[in-house]
Amino acid sequence: MQLDEVRKNFIGYFTDLGYVRQTESSLIPRNDPSVLFTTAGMQQFKEFYSSPLDAPAKSVVTIQPVFRTSDIGEVGDATHLTIFEMLGNFRFGEESSLRMKETAIKEAWNFVHKRLGVVKERVSATVFKGDKLTPGDTESEGIWQMLGIEVKRMGRDDNFWGPAGDEGPCGPCSEIYIDGIEVWNLVFAQYYKNTDGKFEKLPQAGLDTGSGLERLSATLQSHRSVWAIEPFVSWVDMVDPTREYESKIIIDHLRAILFLVSEGILPANKGRDYVLRRLIRKVVFLERRAAIKADLSKVITEIHAYYAPSYTLTDPEKVVKVFEAEQAQFEKNLARAIGHLDRWVASQSEQPSSEEITKLAFYLFESFGFPRELLLEHLRDLGWDFDNELFAKLFAEHQETSRQGSEGLFKGGLADHDAQTIKHHTAHHLLLAALRKVLGNGVVQKGSNVTKERLRLDFSFDRKLTDDELDEVDSIVNDKIKAKLPVVKQEMSKDEALKSGALAEFGQKYGDKVSVYSIGDFSKELCGGPHIKNTGELGKFEILKEETSSQGVRRIKARVS
Ligand code: SER
Repeated sequence: MQLDEVRKNFIGYFTDLGYVRQTESSLIPRNDPSVLFTTAGMQQFKEFYSSPLDAPAKSVVTIQPVFRTSDIGEVGDATHLTIFEMLGNFRFGEESSLRMKETAIKEAWNFVHKRLGVVKERVSATVFKGDKLTPGDTESEGIWQMLGIEVKRMGRDDNFWGPAGDEGPCGPCSEIYIDGIEVWNLVFAQYYKNTDGKFEKLPQAGLDTGSGLERLSATLQSHRSVWAIEPFVSWVDMVDPTREYESKIIIDHLRAILFLVSEGILPANKGRDYVLRRLIRKVVFLERRAAIKADLSKVITEIHAYYAPSYTLTDPEKVVKVFEAEQAQFEKNLARAIGHLDRWVASQSEQPSSEEITKLAFYLFESFGFPRELLLEHLRDLGWDFDNELFAKLFAEHQETSRQGSEGLFKGGLADHDAQTIKHHTAHHLLLAALRKVLGNGVVQKGSNVTKERLRLDFSFDRKLTDDELDEVDSIVNDKIKAKLPVVKQEMSKDEALKSGALAEFGQKYGDKVSVYSIGDFSKELCGGPHIKNTGELGKFEILKEETSSQGVRRIKARVS
């Protein structure tokens, strides 16, 4: 069964059972600063496992693109992709965990068996065997046995899932295998893991399932590899079928690049931006290594055409532009790095020690973004000895520094103290206050992202804004800039801050002590900062785009000069 048919069948099957279809969420989690990307379908529903009454429906179904940096190293093998479409069905607020498991397992089994036509002999399942922290899942084991399916008990690493991020719903899971390939994970969210590592039993159970569409479809077509199915086969052919391994990674990364750029991410040195930079550089590096001649802009356009009917994506021209700009910069860096290396080589009167070579290699890696694999190859060509262990040590130290950098960026607000980013941050506050003036105080912030290039604000509102409304918002913000309002920071307790009418992002967690930034008496928000001192420091404010983000949530991208 082709990807499209599996998608249709999954949604059709679960909506017939009363599950309500929900739109996929952004790849940037809207209310979870502890993770960089959406890695699971349940992420947008995290809060509903503890507060089921707030859920849009008691049971919902989605197809969610997810992005997993943890799998980057595996890409090119049979079953791993950095970005994939995850089929998921979810239930909230279940009184009986046994009844929920019965329903969930039977629904999943009937989908696989009756709807997809997979015979019993090809199917097996696993359940959690239990440990000191949480008990084994004998309920699920019994249900599988009743259905006559072979079931194995497994440990925590395999069969206890979550939470996504630092804390959240999690629980024992039961995995479904077809032909020995894991195709579906049913998580029974019975616990909430706190940041202190303790598991608290949730008062009501929930269900979170996820099945990788590409892997499931390949298995149904009796293939063991996602690369054996369409459209992947054709895409690899477009790149270079004689260099299959590199072509697969290039395709995987181009898909990811398309989705990340569509989220407004641009290549840079921190957090998500850095992930995008790494993906683009890897593609350029592989192209060079395998001497691939294909026109990748055509491949991007082709991949875009395939996904555009299902997801909101940026125009392929824009993606190609971002890709090519980064490629040009990287190639310039590479040329400089190679020049540097060659000069260094020429200046050595005798064979340098492997320690000296490795340190130089690391310098090139760190300063010019010269990828490790390419460096190793180049040095090997020169017949030079290289100390892998020393490089790994230097690399680990470097990673620790960038990890801290990224964490800072997504925890206490904004660690990127670049002047333009700070301006965008203050403009973000002005924009939110202006939106509330024009559209009413029902508008609350649902998410935000601020970079050098632009600011992005997600807010609750259920329709497209009219041109007049956008003009009005634009002129209010520009008036507040002209009015040269002071930006003042105060520290206070969270309760005091909320009582004083300061705005907080919906669903966001704050500490007990918070900072509040006021802009004249126009805006007041809980925020980690930093900000400029006076709105007079901002140039012209301009709205770039207004679009849908998810159901009931709009997104505005804007910038200031
Ligand atoms: N959250 C689980 C997973 O990602 C099931 O959807 O595997």
